[in-house]
Amino acid sequence: MTSVRTWGKRPGTVVQEAVPFNAEAAAAALADEEITPVDVFYARNHGPIPDVAANDWRLVVDGLVDAELDLSLDRLTSEFAEHEVTATLQCAGNRRDEFVAIRPIPGEDPWGPGATSTARWHGARLADVLASAGVTDADDLHVEFTAPDVAADASPAQAYGSSIPLRKALSREVLLAWRMNDEPLPRLHGGPVRVVVPGFIGARSVKWVHRITVRDSPSDNYFQASAYRLLPADADPGAGAGEGIPLSSIGLNSAILCPADGAVLPPGPVTVSGYALGGDDREIARVDVSADGGATWRPAELSASRGPWAWRFWSFTVDLVDGTVDVVARAWDDRGGLQSESTAALWNPKGYANYSWPRRRIVVGRS
Ligand code: MTE
Repeated sequence: MTSVRTWGKRPGTVVQEAVPFNAEAAAAALADEEITPVDVFYARNHGPIPDVAANDWRLVVDGLVDAELDLSLDRLTSEFAEHEVTATLQCAGNRRDEFVAIRPIPGEDPWGPGATSTARWHGARLADVLASAGVTDADDLHVEFTAPDVAADASPAQAYGSSIPLRKALSREVLLAWRMNDEPLPRLHGGPVRVVVPGFIGARSVKWVHRITVRDSPSDNYFQASAYRLLPADADPGAGAGEGIPLSSIGLNSAILCPADGAVLPPGPVTVSGYALGGDDREIARVDVSADGGATWRPAELSASRGPWAWRFWSFTVDLVDGTVDVVARAWDDRGGLQSESTAALWNPKGYANYSWPRRRIVVGRS
């Protein structure tokens, strides 16, 4: 598909929308490497992708600050210490396809489990930049990020923006990133500079950020005040600003990437594999897998922890004998929390935050 080539993604990438470009990796490609290669990393865009030359990029820091800043890329990269954080970004619409199977969600892309990926991000700590503007206390304030891309799907159409609480903005993991997996941050992923807010929904990791404003209330931007909010199941999806629960930290989640649902496989051992993410600052402690629809469970193999901000891969071998096999997974975090069981119970009109137990049916077939 042309848009896949244009944006440098791997053949086989699943395009949800060509314009603006919204795409997720084929499940097998995503399952291949724990640090997602840039050409596999999902892309989520609400508007046309800006083309901001590194030399032209400026970042203004204003609002409730002691000293306003106006930084060039040169100043950002030379005056502030560079830090590395390995973090998973996860879109709030990840796994929406499972909600859609229960009840349609018009106007929203039916993302599979690939609207999430993990990269090594390099950049300055947002806390350091805020400190040089005189903001150091985690008061009950908010930090708004604004970008130049104008989103036609906002009502009214407006530049993309969102905000996070100041206490999160001052934490060590939040970066103004200019490198992704040791490459200069690609244009599609927010280059020259984007915000990376580990543990929070991807919508808060604002790309092409050019203004940071400290405020006494959350951003009024459409993507903070109206979208990315959990509405009651019977609500009008077009509910106005301030309705529903604003999404910030990601919930405990896991997904099955291989094999595909409905796969017909010969008898014998098959490896079932996927990812799990604690969400917020929680680490994954265990993933259980059931090969009998949830009647009995065994712990899966987990990859080494990279800390709370990154997913862990898991795998489990099922011995296929005959008939159909219903595989279910469930993740536990390091505080004893268990992933929610029911997809139907989590259904909401915009299809956000599907953190339910993933399921796959495998059909055992003899050729
Ligand atoms: N930033 C801007 N400026 N415009 C956008 O449309 N999309 C957000 C976020 N930052 C968006 C943005 C959403 S919803 C997600 S999930 C992540 O970027 C996706 O980041 P990626 O495209 O690098 O995967």
